[in-house]
Amino acid sequence: MEPDELPTPDAIRPPGGPAGSAAGGAAGPATGNPVAEAVAGGTGGRPGHGEPVLEIRGLVKHFPLTRGILFRKQVGAVKAVDGVSFDLHRGETLGIVGESGCGKSTVAKLLVGLERPTAGQIRYRGEDITKLSGRALKAVRRNIQMVFQDPYTSLNPRMTVGDIIGEPYDIHPEVAPKGDRRRRVQELLDVVGLNPEYLNRYPHQFSGGQRQRIGIARGLALRPEIIVADEPVSALDVSVQAQVVNLLERLQNTFDLSYVFIAHDLSVVRHISDRVAVMYLGRLAESGTDEQIYDHPTHPYTQALLSAVPVPDPEARESRTRILLTGDVPSPADPPSGCRFRTRCWKAQELCAEQVPPLEVPPRFATPDAGPAAHPSACHFAEERQVVPGE
Ligand SMILES: Nc1ncnc2c1ncn2[C@@H]1O[C@H](COP(=O)(O)OP(=O)(O)OP(=O)(O)O)[C@@H](O)[C@H]1O
Ligand code: SF4
Ligand SMILES: [Mg+2]
Repeated sequence: MEPDELPTPDAIRPPGGPAGSAAGGAAGPATGNPVAEAVAGGTGGRPGHGEPVLEIRGLVKHFPLTRGILFRKQVGAVKAVDGVSFDLHRGETLGIVGESGCGKSTVAKLLVGLERPTAGQIRYRGEDITKLSGRALKAVRRNIQMVFQDPYTSLNPRMTVGDIIGEPYDIHPEVAPKGDRRRRVQELLDVVGLNPEYLNRYPHQFSGGQRQRIGIARGLALRPEIIVADEPVSALDVSVQAQVVNLLERLQNTFDLSYVFIAHDLSVVRHISDRVAVMYLGRLAESGTDEQIYDHPTHPYTQALLSAVPVPDPEARESRTRILLTGDVPSPADPPSGCRFRTRCWKAQELCAEQVPPLEVPPRFATPDAGPAAHPSACHFAEERQVVPGE
């Protein structure tokens, strides 16, 4: 079921604001991606409400590499996330894209507290939550929830749907007193387009898309402000992906949610995101609005990623140049010096091995007439190159 109008029950109305703002905007341009095109009311360019709800500064997560059985000795570290900074504004969707192993899930886990950072700050409404513990941390964590990739493994098969969705209330009973839980869980089922009477069923009785709706309902249970969705549609059939992306967009508008949306599929990310960050080997390579990243990329890695996106129009397909990257992604335990992309970059020069390019607007584009090319790009030799044919 895909309800046209989502109810806005009291149980999950966000704190401090009216619920129920209408989804706006015409559908985005044709992308050739069946998921993106099936999604109604595209959000391309939908602005957030201004103030940052999350400010990530110099986030680092190193996993120790150890050797020895009796005497474990640290012999190195996997630098999964190695100095990542970005803001998430209220009501916006920030997409994070990048190849497998570049650190996307680790960023997600750090944001929701499933991993502790090695260094860096995660500021929620101005307060660095990496410094909090106990009650104060618990109170903040309630506002940042996660939706996982695989709806088949992320739901406990031995628990009923009601218990799965209501489980967060065990940790935060103040949100839903015991006598009120059943009603609240039923409201959540309704909100995500499932029959409220499914409360006593088990996960195996649902399809993949329905299970992901259950995962989303669970993510909403504590009335969070921020949802970190780690590849929320990657494990689903293409037709079902569109429904789940639709649902996420509607929920965002209804409950004024801010999303960090992680995905492999660049077309889906473009469709749902207001801004996009491109990640490579533990760092951000480029960030900007969806238009800046997709139509005016200046970092060679982004250009290579985009050049591999399928183009439906045969003429456009003919006219574009595919950038084939040579070599494998280096190990995050031993990343290249300077620019991490240099071992695969066709433009690499000596400077690239010597100096880490900062993620900032390249000086050559820091002029009033630079247009959409003026956005942060961690490349010493950033230049604009359109790789996705104009639509
Ligand atoms: N608990 C851990 N211990 C050691 N290494 C880890 C751990 N978790 C992740 N890693 C490593 O950190 C790097 C980043 O992993 P991560 O799962 O964040 O990547 P990803 O971008 O989400 O990849 P994918 O697209 O495949 O999901 C990988 O090299 C991974 O092997
Ligand atoms: S800094 Fe050098 S190696 Fe890195 S992307 Fe730019 S040109 Fe390529
Ligand atoms: Mg991942």
